[in-house]
Amino acid sequence: MAKVRSVAIVCGDGIGKEVIPVARDVLSLLHPEYELFPVEVGYERWERTGEAMSDDDFELLKSADAILFGAITTPSAPDYRSVLLRIRKDLDLFANVRPVKGDGFDITIVRENIEGLYSGIEEVGVDSATTLRVLTRHECERIARFACNLAGRRTLTIGHKANVMKSDVFFRDICLHEASVAGVNCNDRLIDALCLDVLIHPTSYHVIVTTNMFGDILSDVAAYLVGGLGMLPSANIGERHAFFEPVHGSAPDIAGRNLANPVAALRSAALLLRHAGDIPGSDAIECAIQTVFSRGIKTRDLGGSAGTKEFGEAVLHELGLVMAV
Ligand code: NAD
Ligand code: IPM
Ligand code: MN
Repeated sequence: MAKVRSVAIVCGDGIGKEVIPVARDVLSLLHPEYELFPVEVGYERWERTGEAMSDDDFELLKSADAILFGAITTPSAPDYRSVLLRIRKDLDLFANVRPVKGDGFDITIVRENIEGLYSGIEEVGVDSATTLRVLTRHECERIARFACNLAGRRTLTIGHKANVMKSDVFFRDICLHEASVAGVNCNDRLIDALCLDVLIHPTSYHVIVTTNMFGDILSDVAAYLVGGLGMLPSANIGERHAFFEPVHGSAPDIAGRNLANPVAALRSAALLLRHAGDIPGSDAIECAIQTVFSRGIKTRDLGGSAGTKEFGEAVLHELGLVMAV
């Protein structure tokens, strides 16, 4: 649990500008005492100013007790470095926690968040290109211990590709060792088979620990279990900082049209409140989302016709009623 007084609000690009205001309004309704301050970073800012995030912006993010983040467009241009990856690395947000909850299943994907294939050690030549996959003992142990702690008495599954990559033999063995030290019930699966099995037998999984890019892919796959990317939140956790964001991106195909589902952003705000120790507030957000669904109010991705704003207003209305009691 962390003391939260100030929250940096980063809308970012595309639908981030539509879903984050909904989540921000909910935070300010539940916690009027929070100081919520906007920080503008991202691709649109880069296009306008040539800078995706200034040093001052980064200092502002660093000064906040928590960060609520939308999404940013990350083009595959050679001269553009992802701001999101820089923030995760420089704030030492080593664990990316992605809960996937549905009917009868409660899975938490724990993704190593700062190394692996995202090491940034790359070389592009004329005839070949290389990206170095770096796994250090320190980060493998840190993420394994974090996942064991989260698993407690539940089962920990290690997702890896140790049949092909020696770096994943290293990762798997460290995770197995940490699980045995912690007394956590643990098994392991090859990541490709795991991606399918999680869809077929979601109730068989509790906490899944995996490396950076495998966790990225597995979480988008698992979104299928709960209605798509509009539904999944995430928490990026470090020893000193905490950063909350939907799993989805800036969705340029629907941006600016009031079509985006704000549930992932609302659930990210709920994870922020959980981190701040406000469990009733966090539960109230989830409860309000479920009540709004039960009244048939859904965005287009879930087969409904409500807009982002209308859905957000319905959730705010529900929370207002609960708070008045
Ligand atoms: P995406 O997650 O933005 O979209 C994938 C598909 O899911 C799209 O069809 C989109 O319309 C739909 N979708 C996503 N969120 C939705 C929501 N809330 N409601 C309804 N539908 C939703 O992934 P993409 O299209 O592969 O990437 C677009 C851009 O976003 C890229 O530049 C990518 O790098 C970036 N991205 C950023 C983040 C982040 O900042 N956290 C995460 C993922 C992708
Ligand atoms: C995510 C995103 C990011 C990632 C991209 C935008 C850098 O896909 O948070 O899932 O790969 O981690
Ligand atoms: Mn992703």
